[in-house]
Amino acid sequence: MPQYSHMDERARRDHYFYAEAESDLYDAAPDLNTPFYTVAHQTLQELVAQHVSSLSNRSGCFLDVGSGTGAETIPLLEKYQRFSAVALDICPPMHRQLEANVIARLGLQAWRERCTALVGDIAERPNPATNAIADKSVQFVVSAFTLHHLDEAAKLNAFRTIFELTEEGGIFVNADLYSFQSPYFAKQAENFLIKWIDRQHTDPEPHLRTQFDALGSRQEEFKNRWIDHVQKYNCPLPVESRSDALAAPVGITGEAELLLRSGFREVACPMRYWQVGVVWARK
Ligand SMILES: C[S@@+](CC[C@H](N)C(=O)[O-])C[C@H]1O[C@@H](n2cnc3c(N)ncnc32)[C@H](O)[C@@H]1O
Repeated sequence: MPQYSHMDERARRDHYFYAEAESDLYDAAPDLNTPFYTVAHQTLQELVAQHVSSLSNRSGCFLDVGSGTGAETIPLLEKYQRFSAVALDICPPMHRQLEANVIARLGLQAWRERCTALVGDIAERPNPATNAIADKSVQFVVSAFTLHHLDEAAKLNAFRTIFELTEEGGIFVNADLYSFQSPYFAKQAENFLIKWIDRQHTDPEPHLRTQFDALGSRQEEFKNRWIDHVQKYNCPLPVESRSDALAAPVGITGEAELLLRSGFREVACPMRYWQVGVVWARK
């Protein structure tokens, strides 16, 4: 399969069965497909809260990259009344779910006045978000479980755009899947994810039972499609740089290095569980 950078828009959108034909099912069971999905989201929210508390009364907007059905956008809009949202997603069906969810939780006025939904690919340069955001002051950027399909070149494009759009001193918080420099451990972590999805869709942990039941007769099909998606399309990069993790001068460019190369001046990784992690960067 060609790398993400060399695909056209249709091929890129084909990655995301759960964001296209099955977008109505996405909200039913997100925790069955990603270990510590909820903890990663809570960590992202906590990092944003720390940042917002340092802004005194400054207002502006935030950008949610791969906004999906609103897992980040909605709680952030709810919590920070002085901020508006720019929700960027490559798949229009997810925006339709986002619209319904925002209206249900926050009302029609909030959707019309505080949420701008943009269809576009964050890996494109120049990016459709750039014009739409030009007159807004982006205080922080968030992304969750979106960027691990991008190859190194596409990710560098995305990070550069995010860096350029963010105000000086602003932050980017990325809850996502990450790999490891050690080829042995990278494979272990991928296997762990696949086995974990298989288990939760077969014999779920007690606290995931409700989500399991919500899929009803679609359970087996949904499990197989997620595992197929992970095997075919996921290409997470390590967080650490090659010199941190390997004795030999081989390896791949890590996320921290790409963020610093894009212009961010500080990077940290406050949460990690196998492939799941949260990376924080400050401009
Ligand atoms: C797994 S969902 C995550 C949605 C939401 N952030 C969450 O955590 O529930 C990934 C979302 O990112 C979108 N997406 C994937 N690649 C993208 C890209 N390159 N640019 C913009 N959106 C993208 C998909 O359409 C999908 O809605």
